[in-house]
Amino acid sequence: MSASAAPSGRDGADDPCGVVRIARGTVGEVSRRRPDPRSRGPRRAAPAFPRDDGPIAAVSITALGAHGDGVATHEGRPLFVPWTVVGDRVTVRLAPGPGGTWRGTSLAWLSRGPGRRAPPCRHFGSCGGCTLQHLDETSYRAWKRARLDAAFARAGAGAPTVHPLVVVPPGDRRRLGLALARSEGRALVGLRARHGHRIIDLEACPVAMPALTALFAPLRASLVAWLADDTVVHAWATATADGVDLVLVGPSTLSLGARQALAELAVGADLARLSWQPAADRPIEPIAARRPVTLGIGPFTVALPPTGFLQPSPTGEAALLAAVRAAFAGGLPRRIADLYAGVGTFGLPLAADGHSVRAFDADAAAIAAAHGPGAAFSAACRDLGAAPLTAAELAGFDAVVFDPPRAGAAAQAAELARSAVPEVIAVSCNPASFARDASALATGGYRLIEVTPVDQFLWSAHLELVARFARDPSCGAVFGLRPLSGSAAPSDPRKAPP
Ligand SMILES: C[S@@+](CC[C@H](N)C(=O)[O-])C[C@H]1O[C@@H](n2cnc3c(N)ncnc32)[C@H](O)[C@@H]1O
Repeated sequence: MSASAAPSGRDGADDPCGVVRIARGTVGEVSRRRPDPRSRGPRRAAPAFPRDDGPIAAVSITALGAHGDGVATHEGRPLFVPWTVVGDRVTVRLAPGPGGTWRGTSLAWLSRGPGRRAPPCRHFGSCGGCTLQHLDETSYRAWKRARLDAAFARAGAGAPTVHPLVVVPPGDRRRLGLALARSEGRALVGLRARHGHRIIDLEACPVAMPALTALFAPLRASLVAWLADDTVVHAWATATADGVDLVLVGPSTLSLGARQALAELAVGADLARLSWQPAADRPIEPIAARRPVTLGIGPFTVALPPTGFLQPSPTGEAALLAAVRAAFAGGLPRRIADLYAGVGTFGLPLAADGHSVRAFDADAAAIAAAHGPGAAFSAACRDLGAAPLTAAELAGFDAVVFDPPRAGAAAQAAELARSAVPEVIAVSCNPASFARDASALATGGYRLIEVTPVDQFLWSAHLELVARFARDPSCGAVFGLRPLSGSAAPSDPRKAPP
């Protein structure tokens, strides 16, 4: 994932949270392009990479890679060509890629493969936020499914029942990580280019909620008033029922005039809250707190901290929660450990369902927010990487839900593998780290029973999933689970897609 094109989760290790001083002229570019004409049988396309002196070759695209780029072979090495489809024959300009690969810039299509469509966003091709808008629905779903199958193969945890992919609709993304800049007196608000650090000044973003795109123009007007030239600031904009919650990460200092301008932005754009963080590792300072920012989770309302994780789309969150809940449907109340719990996205509804939930997360603000609904739910701050719940501690639970950041939960998965917990529900935003953690669980005797894939980062290479693992079937009688036979019992109500 390109750092600056990071979608909206705040846990990506490569997110550019901070201020970067940059050379004049490299801040950004304005993208005013029409929908990419390549989808309609183009003959020429603008080069996307700065190198324009590399050799030219005609190649055939034979696969789509892990980031959605078309893959060809040139001189025995993999060649990645963005925005192509399998079956394309294309003339490319070559540049060296990482690890002995090539990168290709499409210059002309000699013939076109099937499964293409017109990208819906005018910025597609320059903006790094989406990489797969050029695939039609069938090819898109097939590519996501192939990613999943590759993860299952790597995990070696069995062949699960796979429920249909839940795809969130356009306009459902409630959090955007934006790059803001001022260059030669002009403000830029957008995402980074797919390759390089340019900011693509966005007029539209079809994946985002309208409340977020409506912020682009007032943000630009404000930045011109107070941001120094050639400075880049990161912003997290979250659309909530109370209004947009905006956090600026940088610049490192704010003058009185800048504070005044930001307070005016909060009023003018009717923000619920505007906060400023001098750098990603510094405390957050409120600039304007106009309304409490809350989030409904099941029957509970939590006060949303300005930082911290939030599932990026309400539809995606609902699909993940439905799949987690389905794993416990019809069974006895369980003692559940909710690991990497955030503000209680899964744990609070499970507590409302009658289970007893103990939640853990390293984010103290999230844990503080997650407290509330009485004896059925409790939460503790704990770094599960440095101090995972041990097999002995896990002995007190009937089931575990774990939802780690993109890097996965290696240490915690190792402890789970040593534990006797009968059922483990893994929520993952990264099939690669999921495969590694699932492999650890499989080594410990867990079997992957069923998976619900959820496509929350529409048109990106990301994929989320909820996976249910069960320990040895003979545990079923002890813990009130139905006995497992084969990979899926047809009568099991949990097999129903959410
Ligand atoms: C993908 S989010 C999931 C949060 C929550 N389950 C939800 O759906 O909203 C990952 C969570 O892991 C937490 N986290 C990251 N590293 C952690 C660690 N080493 N120990 C415990 N929690 C961690 C983050 O604070 C974040 O809340």
